[in-house]
Amino acid sequence: VTGYGEVDGRKVFLFAHDFTVLGGSVGEVVADKICKVMDKAIENGVPVIGLNDSGGARIQEGVDSLVGFAKIFERNTKASGLIPQISAIMGPCAGGATYSPALTDFTFMVQDTSHMFITGPNVIETVTGEQVSKEELGGASSHSTKSGVAHFSYPSEEEALENIRRLLSYLPQNNMEDPPRVKPWDEPDREVPELTDIVPSAPRKPYDMSKVVGRIVDEESFFEVHSNWARNVITGFARMDGQSVGVVANQPRVSAGTLDIDAAEKAADVDLTELTIKERIAVATVQQPTVGFSLVVLSLFALSFVVALAFVYPTVAVLFVIALVVIALVAAGILYLMRPSSSA
Ligand code: HXC
Repeated sequence: VTGYGEVDGRKVFLFAHDFTVLGGSVGEVVADKICKVMDKAIENGVPVIGLNDSGGARIQEGVDSLVGFAKIFERNTKASGLIPQISAIMGPCAGGATYSPALTDFTFMVQDTSHMFITGPNVIETVTGEQVSKEELGGASSHSTKSGVAHFSYPSEEEALENIRRLLSYLPQNNMEDPPRVKPWDEPDREVPELTDIVPSAPRKPYDMSKVVGRIVDEESFFEVHSNWARNVITGFARMDGQSVGVVANQPRVSAGTLDIDAAEKAADVDLTELTIKERIAVATVQQPTVGFSLVVLSLFALSFVVALAFVYPTVAVLFVIALVVIALVAAGILYLMRPSSSA
C-alpha cells in the first residue's frame, strides 16, 4: 500500500507492506512501487514513513527481488540528510525488510509483536539446528536495549503511530526548511532555582541529568530518543520558547556519564546523521565535565611507551615514569581547583 497524506496538516509519503499477501514479501513489482513513493518524497522534500511487516525479499522471484531491494537501499542513502525517513516495524520483519529500516533515521518497534532479524527462527533451525525464539532473535527489547537499532519501542501499535506523529512535529520537512515553531506555552526567561538542588555541589556525587534537561526546556516538551540504550548519554528533541531543539547530554547517573562506543554513536546519531537536516535544528549540549576518556587513552599510550623504552634504556624509562607521576599530580591538582561548583 503506497500513497501520501497529512500529519498535523503537513504532507508525508508512506508505504506499508501487507503481510496477508505472501507474508508482505517484496518482489520486483512491490519494490518498484515502494521506490516510486520514495522518489516522490525526495522530489517534493517531504518525510517518508515505512510501515514494515514483511518477510523480506520474495524468495520465489530470486535475484529480481534482491535487485528490487538494492533499489530501495539506494534511495534510502540518497534521501539521507535530505528528508526525514521513519520506519515502524509492525510484525515479523526479515532480510531486506530490516536492512532498509536500519538505514533510515528513526525506527519504531512494538513490544512482543514486532521483530527484526536477518531470517526467522524456522529458517535458522532448518539451516543450523539452533532453536531460538523470535523475541531473542530480534524483539523490541533486544533492539532497544542491546543493538540500539530501534530508537523507540512501545507496548502497542497505536502508541507507536501516535509517537511517530509526535516525532514529526519536531522535524523539518526537509533540509531546506525550518521545523515548525509552536505557540510557546512556557515562560522563556523563567528562572530554574531547583537546579541548585538537582546538581549536587560534591563533584563526585551522581545526579539525574534528565531532570536538568526537563527543567531547562519548555515544560513537558522533552521527547527522548533511544531511552533504553547507551543510557550514559541522553539524546532527544525538545522545545525552547516553542522552537524545536535537539538535545545531547551526559548522564552522570549511568557509568559516571563517561563515553563508550555505544554512547558516542548515540550522541553522533542525533547530532549528525539524523539532523544533517541538522542545519535546521539547533543542538543543545548539556555536559558534566568528564576526564574519563582522555585519561584512559593517555594512560594506555604512556604504558606502552614505557614498556618499549624499558627494553632499550631502562634508566630513561624510570626517569620517564617519575616525570609522568609529577605531571599527573599537577594535573590532578589543577582539575581539583577547576571542579564545578553547585551554582555552575
Ligand atoms: C516469500 C514468504 C517470505 C519470503 C514469508 N513468506 N516470508 N514468501 N518470500 N521472504 C510467506 C510464507 O511462506 C507464508 O506463506 C506466509 O508468508 C506467512 O509466513 P509464516 O512463515 O507462516 O509466518 P510467521 O510464522 O509469522 O513467520 C514470518 C517470518 C518467516 C519470520 C518472516 O516467514 C520467515 O522467516 N520467512 C523467511 C524470511 C527470510 O529468510 N527472508 C530473507 C529473504 S532474503 P503461506 O503461503 O504458507 O501462508 C532478503 C535479502 C535482501 O531479504 C537483500 C537484498 C540485497
